[in-house]
Amino acid sequence: MRLIALTDDQLRAGGGLKWGRAPGDVLPADIAELDFAVAPPIRAALSASVDRSALGYPDYEAGAPVRLAELFAERTRRSGGWRPQARAVEICAQITQALCCVILAFTRSGDEVLVHSPTYPPFLEAIRSLGRRPLLLPVGNVGDDAVKAAWAGAERARRLRLILLCQPHNPTGHVFDLATLEALADLAEHRDAVVFTDEIHAEIVYDGTQCPSIASVRGAAARTVLFTSAAKSFNIAGLRCAVGHFGSDELHARFRTLPWHLRSGASALGIAATIAAWESCGSWLDQLREQLSVNRIRLADFMSTFEQVRFTPPAATYLAWIDLRGAGLDFNACDVLLKAGKIALQPGSVFGASLDGFVRLNFGTSEARLEKLLQRFGKALDSGYGKG
Ligand SMILES: Cc1ncc(COP(=O)(O)O)c(C=O)c1O
Repeated sequence: MRLIALTDDQLRAGGGLKWGRAPGDVLPADIAELDFAVAPPIRAALSASVDRSALGYPDYEAGAPVRLAELFAERTRRSGGWRPQARAVEICAQITQALCCVILAFTRSGDEVLVHSPTYPPFLEAIRSLGRRPLLLPVGNVGDDAVKAAWAGAERARRLRLILLCQPHNPTGHVFDLATLEALADLAEHRDAVVFTDEIHAEIVYDGTQCPSIASVRGAAARTVLFTSAAKSFNIAGLRCAVGHFGSDELHARFRTLPWHLRSGASALGIAATIAAWESCGSWLDQLREQLSVNRIRLADFMSTFEQVRFTPPAATYLAWIDLRGAGLDFNACDVLLKAGKIALQPGSVFGASLDGFVRLNFGTSEARLEKLLQRFGKALDSGYGKG
């Protein structure tokens, strides 16, 4: 089973958001989709479902969904070292959907939701559009001054009801260490807040970094809702399947008070593909990690040649968070790279206010295409375009 890089033509024909939206002369590296063919066991599972016409409503209480819940519990026991109960698992269509449901079930209008900044945009949208208030905490470890200051704000917050974590963090690729998770667990206990942890990127971690889950931290476990999926690591986001775990029966029961159609909806194909990914794609995932590790090192070497660029290689994810403020691009970094370099990156501004000088680059691609991207990136910076 080999990792196969798709050609530009294949990717453009594939209809994904990343390549589908990019004009013909632009190389896209914005949306978090991979430029690799879907792993063979996933393709086989999807074909088998179609061949058997197994495309009716999934029975979430039996068959494949139950197998998926058990698989999640087994994998977590092996890789995470803690013991989730399969009966505490809930299968939804999307993690962001589950987050919206948790916000509705556990908070009220005007309540505060603690979330790290920069923030994955759908998190902010979910919090704000449901009438809750984001309380921003800078990404960093507990000892950092900025974090300490924000912490004091969180401790004073009157209506903090939910702590939202993205572990590992999108867009920075930061992995929160155990001490930080323990501090968040204390805060959650102290404020009697629920914790939601999105661990969709936890399978792509570099250099043996430990990626602990707050769901296993004493004090937080019973108040934590964890969601993950195979969507990012296996590039199957369009199939709609996310797997959640509730740290207590009480949390689970409260989530289930929401209408079924609001909190459910994983597709039969998404469930089949996620089982195939987690059961049979270990060696494919290893190859992906190797390729991404090579890309990450190349990216770090390349960025280090520019004095004006600040870049810390991510500890996890295939996303690079690049600070271009020193290049004089405080207000328009993404625009300049698009116009002068013909590359589409994700603008920092979508991750929070005053972040226009940052860009997020998705390096989940072949070495050859990454090289092209970097050449164009360098050309755009050297062009002087966009400087005041
Ligand atoms: C942190 C994070 N959560 C969730 C998602 C999307 O997952 P879903 O479509 O299941 O909401 C992404 C996609 O990039 C992500 O980066």
